[in-house]
Amino acid sequence: MNKTINNVDIVFGASWGDEGKGKITHFLASKTDFNGQPYYDFVARWNGGSNAGHTIYHNGKKFATHIVPSGVFYGITSVIGPNCVVNLESFYKEINQLSYGGIDTSLIKVHPNAHIVTDEHITEDKAKLAGKLGTTSQGIAPAYRDKYARTGLLAKDSTIDKSFLLKEDLYGNILCEGAQGFHLDINYGNYPYVTSSECLPYAACSLGFAPQKIKNIYACSKLYDTRSGEDPLFPSSLLEDPILSEIGEIGKEYGVTTGRRRKVNWLNLDKLIEALCVSGATELVVNKCDIIKQVGVYKLFHYDEVIEFTTITEMQHYISHSCYNACDTLRKIYYSGNPETIEGFKAA
Ligand code: IMP
Ligand code: MG
Repeated sequence: MNKTINNVDIVFGASWGDEGKGKITHFLASKTDFNGQPYYDFVARWNGGSNAGHTIYHNGKKFATHIVPSGVFYGITSVIGPNCVVNLESFYKEINQLSYGGIDTSLIKVHPNAHIVTDEHITEDKAKLAGKLGTTSQGIAPAYRDKYARTGLLAKDSTIDKSFLLKEDLYGNILCEGAQGFHLDINYGNYPYVTSSECLPYAACSLGFAPQKIKNIYACSKLYDTRSGEDPLFPSSLLEDPILSEIGEIGKEYGVTTGRRRKVNWLNLDKLIEALCVSGATELVVNKCDIIKQVGVYKLFHYDEVIEFTTITEMQHYISHSCYNACDTLRKIYYSGNPETIEGFKAA
C-alpha cells in the first residue's frame, strides 16, 4: 500500500536566483516533531541542475552545494527530482565534499527519471551559450533540449551508482527546495535570458504530489536585487555605480557556481509583487537586510520610479504594505539580516 503524503512546504526564489533559498530550506529542515525527530521526511529539488549554488552554514562550517538538497545536513532523505538534470562528475564531486565535511551522503537520492547532463552538453553550453547568455556552463539548456526531444539519457539507464537511485514514492511531510528564481523561469523570465526549467512552486508537483497537499509557500528575496549572467534589464553600467558596488562587496555578491561578480540594483518591487502574486506565496522572507543597513542608503523601484527612504524601517513598512495590498495569498513577511536564521520565525 502507498504511504500517504501529509503536508508539502515549498521554498522558491522570487527574484533572479541567489535570494537565500538554501539558507531558508536549511533553517526549515531543522524543524522537529514532538519526539525530537525531523519533521520533514524528505527534502527535494524539483528543477535545474548544478547551475544552482547554495551557501549553507551548518554547525559553524560553510558548505557550497549545487544539486544536493539542503535536508541532508539534518539526516533527512534528500531527493533530486525527475525534472532535474544531473551531471555525474559534479554530482560525485559534491558528494565527496559533503562526506569529507562529515555529512551522511547515503541519504542523497536521484529520481530514476532525472536526466543526465553529458560532457557533450557541457561542451556545447560553453561554446554556444555561455558567451551570449552568460549561462553557468553546466550544460543545462542542451540537457533539457535533449530531454524534450526524447533523445536524453535517464539516470536509471546511466552508469550512476545504483545505490543513489530513489526506490520509493515520497510520503509524509515534504520540503521542496527551488533553484534559480521566478524571473529566470523558462515561461516568466526575460526570454532568452532565462534558465531552461520551471522555477515556480506549481512545478514542484512534478516530484509526485497533488497541488492540494501544498501548505506553505515561502518566497525568498533580498532587500536589493542581483543578477548573475546576461540580462538587458541589468546593464553592466550597474557595476560602475559606487553605492551599488559597495552593496555587492559587503554582500559578497559573487556567484557560488561561477565566481562571477553579480550586478546589483535597487529592489524592483513591481517585479517582486508579480512573483508573489503569480506564485501564490504565503510567506515572504526578505534576506540581507543587514547589508543595506550597513550601506545606509534605502532605495527601491516601484511603478518604475525610484523611491528613497530615510530609514530601513520606513522602507520595510512600505514593502510590507505594498505586498500585502497586492497579494491576497500572503500571510507573513520576515526581514532577515542573519545568514543562518530567520529572526522571529513562527512556523505556520
Ligand atoms: P543556465 O541555467 O546555466 O543555462 O543559465 C541561464 C541564466 O540563469 C544565466 O543568466 C545564469 O547566470 C542564470 N542562473 C542559472 N542558475 C542560477 C542560479 O542558481 N543563481 C543565479 N543565476 C542563475
Ligand atoms: Mg545561488
